Amino acid sequence: MATAQLPPSENASQLDKSNSRVREMFRQIAPRYDLMNHVLSANVDKYWRWRAVRRLKMNSGSPVLDTCTGTGDLAIAIAGKAPENVDVVGTDFCFAMLEIARKKTAADDIVFLEADSQQLPFDDNSFQCVTVAFGLRNVADTDRGITEMTRVCRPGGQVMVLEFSRPRLIGLRQIYGFYFTHVLPRIGQLFARNDKSAYSYLPESVGQFPDGQALADRMIAAGLKNVGFKSMTFGVATIYEGFKPGESSNA
Ligand SMILES: C[S@@+](CC[C@H](N)C(=O)[O-])C[C@H]1O[C@@H](n2cnc3c(N)ncnc32)[C@H](O)[C@@H]1O
Repeated sequence: MATAQLPPSENASQLDKSNSRVREMFRQIAPRYDLMNHVLSANVDKYWRWRAVRRLKMNSGSPVLDTCTGTGDLAIAIAGKAPENVDVVGTDFCFAMLEIARKKTAADDIVFLEADSQQLPFDDNSFQCVTVAFGLRNVADTDRGITEMTRVCRPGGQVMVLEFSRPRLIGLRQIYGFYFTHVLPRIGQLFARNDKSAYSYLPESVGQFPDGQALADRMIAAGLKNVGFKSMTFGVATIYEGFKPGESSNA
């Protein structure tokens, strides 16, 4: 995995990431969230989740948690790849997103629960892997989110974050910035019939969120070891992973 140093985020103004604002925004876009994801990313989002699942080190017997699970795509992909006797729990604080997740699968080894990622309703050391895809950026307190993921992960277990990042390549970075800031919010508004803020929120939240080594450092600060990251699709998305120190290592 790469360890390249990344430039700081470009947008200094503070975004409203209060629970009520973020929950309401996802409630509004929930019915068209999946369609929008696939259209705006030309289905590359599925590939990113597939790459993330492939990196998970899962053993039989212990459950896996997907936080900010939304409409459940990562949780469902994890369940499809997991060995026998691995239950998958997906949590999110937006009921409307979970409703869609629940309709997608009848599998009895997946359960979707309403929960705030900053206050997970699980005992310490409960899960062998804890994941989040495109969710951590939306959590009001990033460090609290990572700390909670780490707390509920068992010693030796894996914590994984899949998140948007900013391309490094000059030229591509500018094209991506233009698409994200000017094109994507308009298409988003058109399809999702949401007020424009949901899709202007996306580039703003990505612009302000730490990526590369900066996010890896936050994971290290939360107590994870062997933290690394792998950028995908010219740096548009990045998989981060770290392992909770302890005996029963699956690192
Ligand atoms: C962009 S969606 C990602 C959904 C899904 N993981 C995916 O890969 O498509 C972000 C999700 O994070 C959820 N979320 C944001 N902040 C949260 C929090 N503090 N606790 C629980 N869920 C949260 C939102 O409700 C939303 O469903």
